[in-house]
Amino acid sequence: MVKKPEIIIEAKALEFNYPGDSLNRSSAINGIDMTVNRGEYLAIIGPNGSGKTTLLKLFNALLAPSGGEVLVEGISTVDHEKVPLIRRSCGMIFQNPDNQLVATTVEEDIAFGLENLALPSAEIRQRVTEVAQRLHLDKLLLHPPHLLSGGEKQRVAIAGILAMQPRCILMDEPTAMLDPSGRREVLDTVKALNREEGIAIIHVTHFPEEAAHADRVLVLNQGEVVEDGPAEIILTDLEMLHSYNLQGTAVVELAALLRQDGFNLPTRILHNRELVNSLCQYERKS
Ligand SMILES: Nc1ncnc2c1ncn2[C@@H]1O[C@H](COP(=O)(O)OP(=O)(O)OP(=O)(O)O)[C@@H](O)[C@H]1O
Ligand SMILES: [Mg+2]
Repeated sequence: MVKKPEIIIEAKALEFNYPGDSLNRSSAINGIDMTVNRGEYLAIIGPNGSGKTTLLKLFNALLAPSGGEVLVEGISTVDHEKVPLIRRSCGMIFQNPDNQLVATTVEEDIAFGLENLALPSAEIRQRVTEVAQRLHLDKLLLHPPHLLSGGEKQRVAIAGILAMQPRCILMDEPTAMLDPSGRREVLDTVKALNREEGIAIIHVTHFPEEAAHADRVLVLNQGEVVEDGPAEIILTDLEMLHSYNLQGTAVVELAALLRQDGFNLPTRILHNRELVNSLCQYERKS
């Protein structure tokens, strides 16, 4: 018998209005039904104002639904007593790493959430050590967080969440303020946590290259889920992406231009290597 996937997050008929929404525009979240399964890597893309940040905040109980509900591991986000539990099982990383670091050393920062759990101090120390090693932060433990690079700061923020042993990490444009090497550093970290430890990732991004790391991609527009499917299907559908003012990855856009110029390439080319392989085969055929 095929095992049913375990649902980490479920949104049912979810609606959210900011004050004034009904007067001059539609709801920020406009009737979303979706689930996120254990261990899944989901990217969420969509134009500015489509509701991506609002959706993550609803998942993290930072906002309460105006209609419908969000269940995190079966617990409703409006169950106030359970909010700390929800935030432990689904931690959130924001765009600006500076706004998430609170302590005077990296070590204290990673331990910050754990201190609130009233864990024995030996266990806190052990978790901080393990997480720091896991994210290659062990040599930085005594450094003040504000002196780290952007990529290192985001890794400290991720470490603080990881120390809570989450099922899921929600990330709202986590690399938007980073240079290319910081971006790579954070993406590699997140991908490893997903692949090696089965932590579900929900990754909001404006970079199609980043969305291409995900297994599944969801497109939001005007508070609605307008597309939801495997990355190789969603991110190679240029006509659809362009219709929402979104771009394909450089490879997808290039493959489309090559097709226009008469190259008979497969339709679902997403990654650099796939384009190179197709072009090499093409050469050999012609
Ligand atoms: N605090 C707020 N008060 C009122 N309206 C808001 C607030 N935050 C967001 N909105 C509105 O809700 C809608 C969705 O915003 P949201 O920030 O979720 O979009 P987004 O997809 O994250 O956009 P971006 O790509 O720019 O980050 C937009 O119309 C926005 O103007
Ligand atoms: Mg946003």
